[in-house]
This record gives sequence, C-alpha cells and structure tokens, in this order.
Amino acid sequence: MDFNLTEEHLMIRDAARDFAQTELLSGVIERDEKQEFPHEQVKKMAELGFLGMMVDPKYGGSGLDTISYVIAMEEISKIDASASVIMSVNNSLVCWGLEAFGTEEQKQKYLTKLATGECLGAFCLSEPEAGSDATSQKTIAIDKGDHYILNGTKNWITNGGTADYYLVIAQTHVDKKHKGINAFIVEKGLKGFDIGPKENKLGIRGSDTHSLQFNDVKIPKENRIGEDGFGFKFAMMTLAGGRIGIAAQALGIASGAYELSLKYSKERKAFGTEICNHQAIAFKLADMATDIEAARMLVIKAAWDKDSDKNYDMSSAMAKLYASKVAMEHTVEAVQIHGGNGFVKDYHVERLMRDAKITQIYEGTSEIQKIVISRSILRD
Ligand code: CAA
Repeated sequence: MDFNLTEEHLMIRDAARDFAQTELLSGVIERDEKQEFPHEQVKKMAELGFLGMMVDPKYGGSGLDTISYVIAMEEISKIDASASVIMSVNNSLVCWGLEAFGTEEQKQKYLTKLATGECLGAFCLSEPEAGSDATSQKTIAIDKGDHYILNGTKNWITNGGTADYYLVIAQTHVDKKHKGINAFIVEKGLKGFDIGPKENKLGIRGSDTHSLQFNDVKIPKENRIGEDGFGFKFAMMTLAGGRIGIAAQALGIASGAYELSLKYSKERKAFGTEICNHQAIAFKLADMATDIEAARMLVIKAAWDKDSDKNYDMSSAMAKLYASKVAMEHTVEAVQIHGGNGFVKDYHVERLMRDAKITQIYEGTSEIQKIVISRSILRD
C-alpha cells in the first residue's frame, strides 16, 4: 500500500492551491457579503480544466481520476466553498451523469460544452416536499409521443440562475412510484421555464441557489436520459459520486480553518507567550489535525473505490458524513481559537463556519448518509 500522491496528483494540488490563492482569496469576503457569483473566477476554473476534470478528453474534459478531483476540491474549498460547490455540481452531478448514461448525441450536444466550462450545469432533484424523500417527486412530465410536457417546482438548486443546462428529475408514471421517474436535460430559456429569486443563504453565499418553475415546458424526447423509468436510479448513482465531491469540500473547509488557526495561534500572544504554547489551544490543534487526516483518508478511499470500479455507495456516504461533521465541529473551534477576531469577517473563519453547515445538509443530510451506510452494512 502506497500513501504517497503521484507526481500528477501533486501537480494538480499545486495548481489548485495556486489558483485559490491568486484568484479566489482576494475577493472572497466581498463576494460572500454581497452574495456575488464568481463569474470571472469560474471562467478561469474552466480554462484550468477544473469544470470537467474526470470527463474523457474526447468530450472536452481533463481525463483525470477522482483522486485528482478531490485533491483540487479540497484546495479550492479551503479558500472559497462557493466556488467549489459550483465546480462540484458541474463535475459530479452533471458531467458525470451525462458521460455515464447519456447518448452520444447528448454528449456531443451538452457534455462537450459543460466539460469545457463553456456552459454550466445544475442538478434538479429537490422539491418543496421532496428533499430527503427523493421518491416523492411532484414534478410531472407527461409523455406526448415525441416530447414530454413538464410541470412542477424544484427547490434549492445550486447554479439555479447561472446554469445553461439543467438535469431535471420528474415523475412520468405516478402509479409506478420510483420506477416511474425519469431524468431530462432541460435548456435554459425554454418557454414556461422560470427561475425564482436568489435565496439569501447562511453560507456558500457566492453560489446562486434558486427555485425553478416549469409550466408546460416542452422537452424533446431525445432529452430523456436512459431507458424509460431510469431516472431514480440515475439520481441515486449520480448522488453517490456527488457525495465524494461534497466530502472533499467539507474536508477543504475544515483544513482551511485548521491552517488559519495554526498560523494565528503561532502569532497571537496571551499571558506572555504565543497561544499555541497553551495546552488549551495545542490540544484543539491536535484534535483538528487528527480528525482532518482521518476525513482525508475516507475521502481518498471513496475516490479510489470509484476509480477502481468498486461500489462506492457506502464509502462516499461515510466520507461525506464524517468530513462534514469534522468541518462543522472544527470551524467552530477555529472561531474559538481566534477569539474576538474569529467573530470578525476579515479573519475568514466565521465564513468557513457558516459554509460548513451546508455540507451536513445538501446531497443528502447526515441522517440520509446514515441510512445509506446502515443499509449497506445490513445488506452485506
Ligand atoms: N445506485 C443504484 N440504485 C440505487 C441506489 C444507488 N446508489 N440507491 C438506491 N437505488 C435504487 C434501489 O436499488 C431501488 O431500486 P429497486 O426498487 O429496483 O430495487 C430504488 O433505487 C429505490 O431505493 P430505496 O428503496 O433505497 O429508496 P428510498 O426511498 O428508501 O430512498 C434514500 C433512499 C437514500 C433515502 C434516497 O431517497 C436519498 O438519497 N435521499 C436524499 C436525496 C438527496 O441527496 N438529495 C439531494 C439533492 S441534490 C443536491 O443537494 C445538489 C446540490 O444542489 C448541491
């Protein structure tokens, strides 16, 4: 067993770290305050190949493995978790699903633009009454022969306002429950497709989150993904990979808060010495470092499972469950280490603490991860 990263992985880590320091750091506080989408920075992420990292180069992607992706996600999330969720949704939930299950025509038409970052994608599963209980889709698509007519509402959609293409999950045969669900590629601008106002969020405020309304939207039949009734499995399989990306985001938030705390504790003096020399602080740093390393192992293991064509339902859920818990707990500790300064925006840790919370909610709450893990354990 080799725990070393390859030369290629190290290069990707350095490129992502450099990008985060030079392009994301300077405006991150302002974007958070103003809820400003990082348009320019996303363009640069596209140029660096970060928006289609795992996609085959023949479709415009970077052709890298999932380990490369989580390494880049960690580095970007250390500085700006809003930028990293934009990246994660495009990579894991949109590009991956299309590459794995789309037709060649769908790949040529949509994936090539999404992987290069020319266009951005969104994944639309959640509804006002179907968050955790994803089978209870109320959005309906009626089969009209050569097209479907789509009606319904989607909630809390990341990239909701900025995306060009939306993967929308909808019920097509109500009596068949989850076996009657389908996934569709929906283009922005179609008649009857309206985007609601931007949500005013606690964290990841630079990313845009909207509700979406579909009123008799006509979707060509060739925009359905997979066989009739494949939509629920499509969503679950896509989310399993998505959870690896969000686990890496949580890891980055935690390690960003740790690095800031370590630096601060070596500079800040109290009672005649740097505060890291007080055991109260040193023990916090020890706990942080240990938990972050454990989270990183779980994230890399889940990525490795995916790259090795092993089942990663459980490992991705474990990575997300644990990394998001570590992110939440240790960003609170990072604020504590910073004392009064931690409560002030300039020191970044209060933002990381706010950003951490969503990692325990989206792409399945912590409770959902426990359902996935316990079912996997009990099934084996
Ligand atoms: N791979 C393949 N098939 C899967 C699967 C997987 N990972 N998980 C479930 N399935 C299949 C099952 O095998 C079953 O198929 P059969 O009937 O043919 O046997 C079918 O799907 C139904 O599965 P369950 O009985 O397990 O379904 P359930 O209703 O009990 O739900 C759940 C399971 C895990 C709770 C699921 O509903 C779930 O994951 N909920 C959370 C949804 C979620 O994560 N939402 C996030 C929204 S997206 C988002 O947040 C994006 C963003 O903006 C950042």
